[in-house]
Amino acid sequence: MARDYDDHSQYQRAVADTSTAMIEQSVAAVALTPDASFVVADFGASTGANSMAAMRTAIAAVRSRAAGQPVVALHNDLPTNDWNQLFRNVESSPESYRALPGPPVVSLASAITFFEPAAPARSVHLGMSFNAAHWLRDQPTVTVPDGFYFSEATGDAATTLATAAAGDWQSFLAARAADLAPGGRLLVQMVGTDVAPDGARHVTARATMLAMAEVAAQMAANGRLRAEAVRDYVLPVYARTVAEARAPFAGDGTPLHDELAEITCRADPVANPYYAKWEQDGDADAYALAYAGFVRGFTESSLRTHLFAPGAVDGDVDAALDDFFGRLRTRFAADPPRDPFEDWTLTVLVSRR
Ligand SMILES: C[S@@+](CC[C@H](N)C(=O)[O-])C[C@H]1O[C@@H](n2cnc3c(N)ncnc32)[C@H](O)[C@@H]1O
Repeated sequence: MARDYDDHSQYQRAVADTSTAMIEQSVAAVALTPDASFVVADFGASTGANSMAAMRTAIAAVRSRAAGQPVVALHNDLPTNDWNQLFRNVESSPESYRALPGPPVVSLASAITFFEPAAPARSVHLGMSFNAAHWLRDQPTVTVPDGFYFSEATGDAATTLATAAAGDWQSFLAARAADLAPGGRLLVQMVGTDVAPDGARHVTARATMLAMAEVAAQMAANGRLRAEAVRDYVLPVYARTVAEARAPFAGDGTPLHDELAEITCRADPVANPYYAKWEQDGDADAYALAYAGFVRGFTESSLRTHLFAPGAVDGDVDAALDDFFGRLRTRFAADPPRDPFEDWTLTVLVSRR
């Protein structure tokens, strides 16, 4: 999974790259204490392949202010993360902060859910999180008959998912408020929902998830997957709106208003590098290969556990997954404009009061 994610995550990297200016401005805004460590933390780091460059940007910005500043780089993810690969990347990635001049950066692992405090209290000067805070803490138990995604939920199911996402986001922010040093900053980028002036909602990955649900339904119709498993599966991701992102801290009386001050909160469209390449070269097979690989990189683990393990009719989960992503690839190649990945990235930048 980790290698698949690293090989097919140029998209996530494009999102992380847009944050360079915000990282540099955040470092410039935080007071440096000579001889005390400046702590940079990355929450939901995975193997670090994409966030390595963001870490290096932050540390280079610290060292441009004070060449000898001691720095700690704290990498957070779940205990099941591929920590060996993360530290291999720290050691050998050309983008690693290891190569920066100055005293060695102390690398630490924080193997705990980011819904809890994940660093020594009040220690983090710059916290960052890319492509991770949209994952829900728990697998939803509601049914979404018309798809795999919160955006197709209606009635009580829609309310349940929105309530879970609101609670998770508040827990994430409360935990970061505990981690951050006074005056520290937190930059979070995750998938979002853009609400147009006319009220139209643009939900990141909606078309992709609809395509995936249809392919799974086909497999059920062909006797490859149990229909109940397809009916019950929901991807545990929630693309928040700007209003949902601001709810815990924006305005007097909100639960975290005394801890966190808003600097920026916005949803921006992000160009799709796979689609742009197809528009240029017309190579639908290459497009479909890259797109299906990208989708597999971030959905396989959830699909394996919650759709294919309970759903594969012959019990061969790997073969069913290969079949699924093969069908998805065929569908993407047949008609690239039909269901492209569309992204409105939500950026939240706050400071710790
Ligand atoms: C799509 S990857 C993003 C990795 C990296 N930040 C990037 O931008 O490429 C999402 C990561 O979030 C992590 N994650 C999801 N839920 C988490 C949680 N509750 N606590 C810590 N990490 C979590 C996953 O384990 C995974 O490594």
